[in-house]
Amino acid sequence: MMSLKPYKLAALVSGHGSNLQAIIDSIERKELDAHLCIVISNIKNAPALARAEKHGIETVFIDPANYSNRKAYDQALTDKLKTVSIDLICLAGFMRILGEEFIHNFSRKIINIHPSLLPSFPGLNAQKKAIEYGVKFSGCTVHFVDTGVDSGPIILQTAVPVYDTDCEESLSKRILKQEHYLYPKAIAMIVENKFNLDGRTVTHNKA
Ligand code: GRF
Repeated sequence: MMSLKPYKLAALVSGHGSNLQAIIDSIERKELDAHLCIVISNIKNAPALARAEKHGIETVFIDPANYSNRKAYDQALTDKLKTVSIDLICLAGFMRILGEEFIHNFSRKIINIHPSLLPSFPGLNAQKKAIEYGVKFSGCTVHFVDTGVDSGPIILQTAVPVYDTDCEESLSKRILKQEHYLYPKAIAMIVENKFNLDGRTVTHNKA
């Protein structure tokens, strides 16, 4: 059943936007009962912006060069997000660190997808680190964002095998395919309020 009040999502992006596309598609297929109100990028020509525009979604480029420090940039982000009273902020390949104040302002309202089975391989180049470490399984994680690096409460994870023949590119491709299922599923869990958060443990409440 569609809810009366649409759940309002924002996405922050910097790049290709394939996860953003998965979210948009999921909403259009009515698997995700939410409204993607705004897509904000820190990179002017991010392909993710073009994807959003194609679907009639408001896009905004907030240029870091116009702000003297992180606090000022984060304030500009906050101001923009508050104009549309967002319920959940989805980081979808947003390659910029958010300051503590921003994260506290939107406490438990920011989620991210990361291409590893956290807490293994946080930070950049997670797939490369997984190959170099020699793990036999890796995957992707959707988590709440806290002030650490990819350290917030884990919402959902999917594992994929790592084969002897894998390179960073082949593993990234296998993981990304799963990200596109996992992210909309995790967002739906939040939108439908089908989760409990106790300390740092998220449990799926299917009722
Ligand atoms: C994904 O691998 C995601 O896990 C990471 O950044 C990448 C974004 O890819 N946070 P895309 O822009 O969604 O295609």
